Amino acid sequence: MRAVWIGLIFAATAAAQDEALGASVFNKSCAVGYCHGSGGTAGRAPKLTGRNFEHGYVHKVTLDGIPNTGMPGWKDRLNSQELNAVIAWVVKASGGVLDPKIAGAAAAGPPMPADAKRGKDLFFDAVRGEFRCSTCHAVDGMGIAVGPNLLTASNLDPAVIRAGKPATVRQGRTRGGETFAALVVDQKPDSIVLFDLALPLPVLRTFGKGEVTFSSGPSWRHSDAVAKYGDPELAAISAYLQWLANR
Ligand code: HEC
Repeated sequence: MRAVWIGLIFAATAAAQDEALGASVFNKSCAVGYCHGSGGTAGRAPKLTGRNFEHGYVHKVTLDGIPNTGMPGWKDRLNSQELNAVIAWVVKASGGVLDPKIAGAAAAGPPMPADAKRGKDLFFDAVRGEFRCSTCHAVDGMGIAVGPNLLTASNLDPAVIRAGKPATVRQGRTRGGETFAALVVDQKPDSIVLFDLALPLPVLRTFGKGEVTFSSGPSWRHSDAVAKYGDPELAAISAYLQWLANR
């Protein structure tokens, strides 16, 4: 009997925590300005309250998005705990009912094998300071997305990781003569936004039109960025990324 009570109290606390997480993920990711509005009531995108959504529908749309609309898929941007919490929050906010089968299946997921676990530690490794992968790549809702999404790469052998994606980074030169390796992220008619890779920690910079010119053959190589990792470590990281991609 006592165990049952303790179990119930634990379940209630865990549910309250999930709800708080769901609300916080929603506010950070979904309620932004022009999307679903705070509490899911306003914004340019459809309102969510009072719609009685089915759990399965919200699950699919949240993970995969809706093609050709402003609704992106979130499965690579949030981790599984955040996904489950925000999906449950939206279902409840819409007046719908949670389906324990979907919640359970999504929460369980396949377990992470040992080499992938080691790869995860290495990917976010604080020991390698600014040279860890997560300084420039985001996976599972963590890290900074300077470089490309790694979950779509088909081959992640250590040699492939070292090589990176040549020709993506160029050499930038300002009118004043400052040179640096540059990864352009956005080009508008009157401005250009880029990551300056001159320092270990990439810096996002904005220039006016014509203030910076580009040439090939940058002073930056991906192999230098990953030089603090040995091949067996890169192989473990590869196992982690593959595990995430197939999850
Ligand atoms: C200082 C920033 C930085 C760090 C640290 C870094 N990367 Fe990268 N990565 C990039 C950039 C920028 C690119 C694309 C341009 C290039 O490779 O030259 C890239 C490309 C890649 C690619 C090629 C992806 C494709 O689409 O072909 C892989 C794979 C990769 N990185 C894996 C890793 C792994 C694994 C680590 C950690 C061991 C890591 N990177 C560390 C910035 C970084």
